[in-house]
Amino acid sequence: MSRSYDDIRAKLRLINEICVHYPAFNSILRDMERCLSESADMAEPLCMMVTGDTGVGKSTLISALYKTRPPSTTSDRVEVPILVAEVPLPATIGGLIAALLAGLGAPFPEKGTIEYKRRRLIELLARCQTLLVILDEFQHLVERGTRQRIETVADALKTLINHSRIPFVLVGMPAARSVLEYSPQLSGRFPIRREIIPFNWLDRPLDFERLLECFEKSLPFEKSSGFTDESIPARFFLATGGNFRAFVTLVRDASRSALLQDCACIEREQLACSYDKLLAKNRRLRANPFRETDKAIEHWVTNLKEPR
Ligand SMILES: Nc1ncnc2c1ncn2[C@@H]1O[C@H](COP(=O)(O)OP(=O)(O)OP(=O)(O)O)[C@@H](O)[C@H]1O
Ligand SMILES: [Mg+2]
Repeated sequence: MSRSYDDIRAKLRLINEICVHYPAFNSILRDMERCLSESADMAEPLCMMVTGDTGVGKSTLISALYKTRPPSTTSDRVEVPILVAEVPLPATIGGLIAALLAGLGAPFPEKGTIEYKRRRLIELLARCQTLLVILDEFQHLVERGTRQRIETVADALKTLINHSRIPFVLVGMPAARSVLEYSPQLSGRFPIRREIIPFNWLDRPLDFERLLECFEKSLPFEKSSGFTDESIPARFFLATGGNFRAFVTLVRDASRSALLQDCACIEREQLACSYDKLLAKNRRLRANPFRETDKAIEHWVTNLKEPR
């Protein structure tokens, strides 16, 4: 592999690792932190639910918190201050407990009855000095479930919280909320509920422009790529709908092209090509926002604002 491709690869890795701590992101992070640090002083653990559509940045938020207190190994034990598990598919209570056991390094996590696994988990959580449990993809346990099934999930969760006395943060798509809607007992244990919404440049242009600015500043290019110049925020918004995954997909690919072509910054044409290649099929817009004239973009935005 040539030296120059190694340089490009290092820069691409850097781009993949960019994490923008925008205000709403920090505010949800602070709430999670609050559950972790204040629960020990409360009669019942302070639990929280975070919902949002696909690609808005839920799992990124979890890893940002996780990195603040990574697991550590001492001579006689492993400490896991924050335990993160994904609800597996097919979603069952037994499978979920096994995923939590696996996260704590338990051998043969699938072994035994649900009751055996539950007792083993409570014991291990104490031994690993776990302070917070985060369950990602929580909608798997409740979506398309009958009322009875959702109530069973709620009961199992309540038992885990009561016995472990550890706060839980449930994270998932909006369908995850039904677990709290169907169970008043569980609902009371989850007073903090936050939703991550896509950036809406039409309603809050400054939020989106600040995000563009922060992201651009973190890119490893010599020159500015002008993400906040004149019509560019509108073009980014039209191309991505304000969805984080769509935004990073576009910028990562355009950055790769810019690096391979040895450019000093990302060119508009590179964004246009990446849009065509990776987003056009899903977005199904009437045109490529990075190829329209300023006048056409202005018109497009006016039309979007009109029916509102
Ligand atoms: N604050 C952020 N800074 C930088 N990149 C981010 C940020 N939030 C999300 N991303 C990027 O957006 C993409 C989607 O984020 P993520 O996987 O966290 O979404 P999600 O809400 O968990 O989606 P899903 O419901 O499909 O699991 C990822 O590639 C991630 O790196
Ligand atoms: Mg996710």
